[in-house]
Amino acid sequence: MSETKRRLVAVILAAGEGTRMRSSKPKVLHTVAGRPMLGHVMMAASEAERVIVVVGPDRDDVASYARSVRPDAMICVQTERKGTAHAVLAAEAALNETAQEGFHDLVVLFADTPMITKTTIVALRNALSQGATVAALGFHAEDPTGYGRLLMQGDTLIAIREHKDATESERAVTLCNAGLMAIDAQRALHLLKRIGDDNAQKEFYLTDIVGLARADGHKTAAVIAPEDEVMGVNDRVQLASAEAAMQTRLRDQAMRDGATLIAPETVYFWADTKLGRDVMIEPHVVFGPNVTIADHVTIHAFSHIEGATIGAAAQIGPFARLRPGSDLADGSKIGNFVETKNAKIGAGAKVNHLSYIGDATIGAKTNIGAGTITCNYDGYGKFKTEIGAGAFIGSNSSLVAPVRIADGAYVGSGSVITEDVPADALAVARGRQVNRDGWAKRFRASKGQDKA
Ligand code: UD1
Ligand code: MG
Repeated sequence: MSETKRRLVAVILAAGEGTRMRSSKPKVLHTVAGRPMLGHVMMAASEAERVIVVVGPDRDDVASYARSVRPDAMICVQTERKGTAHAVLAAEAALNETAQEGFHDLVVLFADTPMITKTTIVALRNALSQGATVAALGFHAEDPTGYGRLLMQGDTLIAIREHKDATESERAVTLCNAGLMAIDAQRALHLLKRIGDDNAQKEFYLTDIVGLARADGHKTAAVIAPEDEVMGVNDRVQLASAEAAMQTRLRDQAMRDGATLIAPETVYFWADTKLGRDVMIEPHVVFGPNVTIADHVTIHAFSHIEGATIGAAAQIGPFARLRPGSDLADGSKIGNFVETKNAKIGAGAKVNHLSYIGDATIGAKTNIGAGTITCNYDGYGKFKTEIGAGAFIGSNSSLVAPVRIADGAYVGSGSVITEDVPADALAVARGRQVNRDGWAKRFRASKGQDKA
């Protein structure tokens, strides 16, 4: 049977206390590229037909986050923290069901190992489809201290020894246990329930499953992953390392998918940023959540973009700030020091300089002059500004919402617009200019006398 047809259940261990984060927030909800670590692991396990998240007692926040990612996620509570095997067994009832339903593969993942990929999960499952009962994920550690060691005999995994239980010669082994494991779903419970806690930490070690499986005459295998994919996060220094690694991954992916990043190390992506092809991103651009960018868009330097949909060939920045609800049609332009929020900008429309456009719609090909402000807030409510197509808003205008400026209308510079403007009309709302002939010359003359 191919591994794609094999039914997969994933158990994600998220019951850790995360003491070293020194945080009021549970560790697994700390974010990497904006997404909680648990979310990254759940995404990696998205092929699983069933996902079980093991949480600590009173961790409704973790449970509800898991359900927000996947409404059908099952939550199991580990009431006491007695080790990784004990944590998996918190899901015993659910695992019993999946076994009865004929699931093939059980994959155990750690919620604090956010870099794990689908590819690696497939590799672990492949080991099962090739006859192994247990497949452990290993990596070559630069510094193996603290990790469990994979004890190999040739290509065969014999046992996993926790650092605290290892002999001197076992500690010399640098092939370490990443902690993630695939287990034959039909045999898992029978093996897990026999794990004891007779060890240095008096914990039920998931890793003991390897020795037990072998004693039963089953095959066990090791799959090797790159070290940066299995890095665990225990404190905020490691969180920053994971962030750096994730950003590198996202930048590389963006470039492979057809975006040009002139200085990739200065561009920060959110985990869900979506870029089209031939997108050009200049240095120092930061993406927040929910950004979708179509083909041939240029994002100039120092722009900050979140919650925005950007149409093909649009030009953004430099120094633009697009806030949630910014919806920019094809060929539109948002220039320097422009902020948009909850704003629909029509095709080919331009807001090129020093503007705030909030709670507004702007029609196709309309030009918004420098310094235009939509006054959308009176301290209590938010109001809409609607500007039609082909309109022209003169520089330094204030558009006091709610207000409508119809197609083709023209607003004189410096206007404070408080009333609707009909199509193709000119609206001027400012003090009239008065010229006094010779006034300046007389003024200087009188002042000159004073000085002398
Ligand atoms: C574990 C592995 C070790 C491996 C290392 C990789 C075991 C026995 N050891 O050790 O071989 O090298 O990970 O980082 O599996 N958890 C619970 N409930 C518990 C205990 C743990 O949910 O009762 C969760 C933790 O939140 C964490 C994961 O399981 O996400 C691993 O637990 P941790 O205590 O960090 O295990 P290590 O000692 O690091
Ligand atoms: Mg650990």
